[in-house]
Amino acid sequence: MKNHVNRVALIGTGAVGSSYAFALLNQGVTEELVLIDLNKEKSEGDAMDLNHGMPFAPSPTKIWFGDYSDCKDADLVVICAGANQKPGETRLDLVEKNTRIFKGIVEQVMANSFDGIFLVATNPVDILTYAVWKFSGLPKERVIGSGTILDTARFRYLLGDYFNVDTRNIHAYIIGEHGDTELPVWSRADIAGIPISQWIKKNSEYKQEDLEELFLNVRDAAYHIIERKGATFYGIAMGLVRVTKAILQNENSVLTVSAYLDGEYDQNDVYIGVPAVVNRNGIREVVHLDLDETEKVKFAHSVKVLKKTMEPVMK
Ligand code: 2OP
Repeated sequence: MKNHVNRVALIGTGAVGSSYAFALLNQGVTEELVLIDLNKEKSEGDAMDLNHGMPFAPSPTKIWFGDYSDCKDADLVVICAGANQKPGETRLDLVEKNTRIFKGIVEQVMANSFDGIFLVATNPVDILTYAVWKFSGLPKERVIGSGTILDTARFRYLLGDYFNVDTRNIHAYIIGEHGDTELPVWSRADIAGIPISQWIKKNSEYKQEDLEELFLNVRDAAYHIIERKGATFYGIAMGLVRVTKAILQNENSVLTVSAYLDGEYDQNDVYIGVPAVVNRNGIREVVHLDLDETEKVKFAHSVKVLKKTMEPVMK
């Protein structure tokens, strides 16, 4: 019997893509990784460089520079290609350019009989995930965006730092657009099962204003990093590996990814960041958080902004 070999095809080996490849190899998540990029020399160099790290990796990964025909046998196609934000630009400013680039990419992947799962990282990620779903014709469960996985990670990191508790004991979500209209779900945020509101009450050192400021640092984190180093890539790369693992290892993990809403959260026909159960088949289901009234209004606003931005390009 032929064993199944897990293959990830990565399209776009810029800063995000190559950091993802590096993190994937370091965590030993897939057996095969094919790099696809217009810049042949750079990607060939990346494949060589990564292969030289193999003796230090936890398990072997076969890595090579390939082309779209390698997508045929891929379980997962991860798209990191496209233009990124310049200082001062918002994620939504990139919509037209990247939608055009994505049309070409998805057509070439599908022309090679791809029948796996797409994971999209390029911004504006929610809109481009919707575009991949439309262009590919694949079922909605098999098209996933990185959504607010990084924002949720930033949130948990900063909360862990503030309360001096391991980030892994913090259950708190950022939902909505991966961008300026995202929101924290304070009403459902807890540390070790105890609501954050109670942590604040029991210790006068902790202040509500600090938490409001903390969220602004989450929402604006990318701007702060882009001002300093021109781009963000390590955090998102690790977030993408987390989703990859949930898929290839059939984990049924709850992750805040960009998922298609078809009635969930009272919304329709939009891809947006929400907690969802992720496994070998993609998105098993969207997890419904019982939002309070303010959160509901903010979430609906985020959906509205995405739909309005998307309208001219998805016609
Ligand atoms: C980030 O949030 C720019 O979307 C990218 O780091």
